[in-house]
Amino acid sequence: MVWLSQWLVLWVAVEAALAGSTQHCPQKILKTDFNMTEYLGEWNEILRVPNDYEEGYSCMSDRFRLSPDGATKVHSHAYNASNGAYVFLDGVVTLSQPGRFDITYSGETVWSSSYWVLGTNYNTYAVLWGCLVQNDGSIRHLSWVSSRQKTLDEDSMTEVNEVLGNNGLERSQYEDVVQTNCPAMPSAEL
Ligand SMILES: *[C@@H]1O[C@H](CO)[C@@H](O)[C@H](O)[C@H]1NC(C)=O
Ligand SMILES: *[C@@H]1O[C@H](CO)[C@@H](O)[C@H](O)[C@H]1NC(C)=O
Repeated sequence: MVWLSQWLVLWVAVEAALAGSTQHCPQKILKTDFNMTEYLGEWNEILRVPNDYEEGYSCMSDRFRLSPDGATKVHSHAYNASNGAYVFLDGVVTLSQPGRFDITYSGETVWSSSYWVLGTNYNTYAVLWGCLVQNDGSIRHLSWVSSRQKTLDEDSMTEVNEVLGNNGLERSQYEDVVQTNCPAMPSAEL
């Protein structure tokens, strides 16, 4: 869910432009009692609303952990079949409001992005959402469904569909993220 660098760089400029915009991100029902400690560990991206930034990426996974310095960190990977290589990204996670967390990534540039938690039961599924008002004033929304496993069981999918329905989202807006036949990762990254 994190390969949004262009989007994210834009975000900064866009927030400043928000005041003049006629459109706003729609309200969603957040999981306001979201607990980051319970969210720690591995999440595999199962479904996503298609977006340019993740096109062609499969085997996407985020690992959240508490680092010794007390910060929450995330290490992510995704496989790009076009060049047969994994890409990796590291970020620092902060809770910015109940039910929303921000991740700050530092690489060649530093940027951060916000994720709204629409639902999670912590041990099988999570539904995340993001929204951007683009420079032309149009709204673009992004969303992901993640699983602790490489697949999502039927009971969890039923709950996910409820979360989507409560937020005016539909399963048909999402594409499957390939999580099968993922090539072995470089051992340094395991
Ligand atoms: C979050 O979850 C952890 C682990 O279950 C628990 O110890 C902590 O009290 C929870 N925090 C809140 C604010 O409920
Ligand atoms: C995947 O790799 C190809 C070839 O290097 C590159 O052109 C493309 O931008 C990469 N995909 C993404 C989503 O970055």
